[in-house]
Amino acid sequence: MTEYPPAWGMRTHWCGELRPAHAGQTVSLCGWVARRREHGEHLAFIDLRDREGIVQCVVDGSVDVRNEWVVRVTGVVRIRPEGTANPDLATGEVEVGDCTVEVLSTAEPPPFPVDDRIEADEAVRLRHRYVDLRRSRMQRNLRARAVANSALRRSMEEQGFIEIETPMLIASTPEGARDFVVPSRLQPGSFYALPQSPQLFKQLTMVGGIDRYYQIARCLRDEDLRADRQFEFMQLDVEASFVGQDEIIACISEAIRACTRAVTGTELGEIPRMSWHEAMERYGSDKPDVRFGMELVELTEVFAATGFKAFAGQVVKGIRVPGGAELSRKRLDDLTDKAKRWGAKGLVWMRVQEESLDSPVAKFLTDDELAGIRRALEATPGDLLLLVADERRVVQHVLGLLRLELGRPPLTEGGLNYLWVVDFPLFEGIDDDGRPVPAHHPFTMPHPDDLDLLTSGDPEDLLRVRSQAYDLVLNGWELGSGSVRIHRRDVQQTIFGLLGIDEEEARARFGFLLDAFRYGAPPHAGFAFGIDRLVALLVGEENIREVIAFPKTQSGADPLTNAPSPVDPKVLAELGLRVLPPSG
Ligand code: AMO
Ligand code: AMP
Repeated sequence: MTEYPPAWGMRTHWCGELRPAHAGQTVSLCGWVARRREHGEHLAFIDLRDREGIVQCVVDGSVDVRNEWVVRVTGVVRIRPEGTANPDLATGEVEVGDCTVEVLSTAEPPPFPVDDRIEADEAVRLRHRYVDLRRSRMQRNLRARAVANSALRRSMEEQGFIEIETPMLIASTPEGARDFVVPSRLQPGSFYALPQSPQLFKQLTMVGGIDRYYQIARCLRDEDLRADRQFEFMQLDVEASFVGQDEIIACISEAIRACTRAVTGTELGEIPRMSWHEAMERYGSDKPDVRFGMELVELTEVFAATGFKAFAGQVVKGIRVPGGAELSRKRLDDLTDKAKRWGAKGLVWMRVQEESLDSPVAKFLTDDELAGIRRALEATPGDLLLLVADERRVVQHVLGLLRLELGRPPLTEGGLNYLWVVDFPLFEGIDDDGRPVPAHHPFTMPHPDDLDLLTSGDPEDLLRVRSQAYDLVLNGWELGSGSVRIHRRDVQQTIFGLLGIDEEEARARFGFLLDAFRYGAPPHAGFAFGIDRLVALLVGEENIREVIAFPKTQSGADPLTNAPSPVDPKVLAELGLRVLPPSG
């Protein structure tokens, strides 16, 4: 049984709550006209909608209302006449009869029908988001989001975490994206950054003895928008003292279980763990979508002594696409182009036949090699095999993407496959300037046994340094990241040095953190996950815009308010700013 909040004000009941048990009661309902039908001059039907649902109201006589007018209807609940019940409607067994209708607001025809079954252009939906929010899809999504937030809060509080609000106008916190900056009026030429996350403040709360911090935090990052990315998004942000990875994983898992249960009713068991290394080897991704197979298979040994130049001396892996032999030549060329765009030098495809492998490169391979491929990939006739040879990282990356391209089910299929990915390396590569690229942010604690590797001076050693970082993945989406933090000044300075942040810059940007570490920093660890992403996956949406009340478009604009927009020259002058003409 759904529970409805008490009605108040101009209504005695919600439209959606009326049931046969209400028969005989006089009710007043408020809402929007979803549909109106006239039966001659003496009978009119209004489907009245509020946030709890729709109910049919019957007026004896004609009534001048149109779709989306706001009305108050007073009448008597009665069981619908035999044969006229509507099984598709929760209130379908009843109707409100003898209605009087009071018009509270008239309305222009809506820019699109307030009906989920009718597709509306997204730009139009966002421009008139207030109309879009009346649709049941948005109503359902926003309410699911509220349920999620509340379950997360409750879970964190039950686990002894204290909610603390951190500031929005701050100095830059590096999370790898561009900052949004805000000019200072009182100090012209100086700027605040909006937080990419509360990272540094939450660490400071640990030095401050809060011990268990959480926040449902707004974060801002100026990066290219995608289905799972907005400029503004919300994190459940967590930090705790005197604990390590296992405790953080346990408490975040508990919050995820509580939230999943509250939103979907699903009981999750233990969330499995996989090492980063295994994820990369088997799925070619640090956020593996484990809903389907098509795993990467190692073939390097098969080609140990090959005469085929492209494969000689390389790491070789392959995937098997069941039934993929049917793919057209055009599609195979398209896959080859994609593989090259993703960084491969080429792509070998093989159609598996009864006796042979049909492939443009078959003639370059020995019978042993061909048999070895078949065996390792467990090929059966009708399959397609795709092989890439290169450095290990390239092979993993390209085959990982091909696997998704060819096998990924729709996001809403296959249930909720949460997965912890653990044992990340500290650095994920070396950039063009020879600097290591951190896999997480620069406050992540290296594995204590690998501290020596940090200072050996050999870049290969750096890539071997393990970190104490962990990610939470759901159906191939990165939900969240966290780590055990550096709480020692010397280690933090070493890491800054490796990343090319020299003393002076470290002082200027993070001096306050390094200073804080001088005054008694407890060992601490934490985590943050994206609430928009979690809610989207829980309600089966493929784009986080669908779970955000007022999102930005792909190009970062808000068609409703027209943000971003130029400001008055007077405002600029006060801020000491002058706008240059666009370059290029
Ligand atoms: P990270 O940068 O991995 O970690 O962010 C954590 C999670 O936030 C979500 N997220 C986003 N959601 C929507 N739009 C975006 N643009 C966006 N960017 C990130 C993702 C992501 O996994 N301070 C660290 C956490 C920590 O170490 O405690 C942090 O912010 O779901
Ligand atoms: P080539 O010898 O460059 O003409 O390549 C012969 C075939 O092998 C072509 O189909 C290429 O796409 C493919 N190929 C070349 N290099 C690689 C590689 N590193 N990995 C996978 N396939 C490759």
